[in-house]
Amino acid sequence: MAIGVFDSGIGGLSIHRALVDRLPQADFVYLADQKHTPYGDRSGEEIVELTRLGCETLFDAGASLVVLACNTASAVALRRLQSSWLAQFRKTYKRPVNVLGIIVPTIEAATGLPWEHEAERRGPKIEKLDVIGVFSTVATARSRVYEIEIDKRRQDLAVFTEACSGLADMIEQGAERAQLSAKIKGHVDSLKIRIGRYPDRAILGCTHYEIVADLFREHLPAGTPLIHQPEPVAKALADYIGRHPEYNIGDSGRRAFLTTGALKSQSALAEAFWGGPLSFETLQAVAS
Ligand code: DGL
Repeated sequence: MAIGVFDSGIGGLSIHRALVDRLPQADFVYLADQKHTPYGDRSGEEIVELTRLGCETLFDAGASLVVLACNTASAVALRRLQSSWLAQFRKTYKRPVNVLGIIVPTIEAATGLPWEHEAERRGPKIEKLDVIGVFSTVATARSRVYEIEIDKRRQDLAVFTEACSGLADMIEQGAERAQLSAKIKGHVDSLKIRIGRYPDRAILGCTHYEIVADLFREHLPAGTPLIHQPEPVAKALADYIGRHPEYNIGDSGRRAFLTTGALKSQSALAEAFWGGPLSFETLQAVAS
């Protein structure tokens, strides 16, 4: 049995690495849905269906817990899967299985408050409004998940989400740094125009963007705090596992990397981020 980690592509590796560091003995299976990447410009229904298939593949490969290391899938598909499909799936598999997202730990990190906290609507007068800028895919921006969930908890934080259409795909395809830099600058500038100034902090709300976090840092004013997802997600998963020993996550330190796409070498950008060669197996190879 293992922990499954799912993304449309290489973005989830940023989360995966923090999970492995936090839980080195556990067995891990990473699945990149590179046949269908990018997810961010797809319809909600497509995202739900692709995420469901990805989870099934990971459960078939022995996962008992699946972490959606993808904001788009977490924002658009997670609740639907948990309410409509997971119960049936648990019966079929006859073992405890669950799907977890990455938005909750990110909101907790952004607000500094536990998920259960709700803001006092008639609280003290707000003297200062801090602005959080969220960079995300189009589908995540459309879900308004960051605006809604942060607003429920902190009345003194305003959230502006900048949809960066096409950026995850450029990262996935290993675009040149100069191209990526120009694209990111364009989105930072556009967010600045919408807010009327630079944000006070920023969330990289797409796991692919973590791979080029340095370029976001370069185009935001020096010292702008970035809220990174990998650490809070890894801590939340370790806490969850501590509270739920019924999930069997293995203990032999196995690492498997699967792709729904063609067997090809991953981009130099992905390998530089990972710090070494990345070798994935195709699903056919796993099945045979
Ligand atoms: N890495 C994903 C996310 O966090 C998906 C990017 C995409 O496929 O568009 O949203």
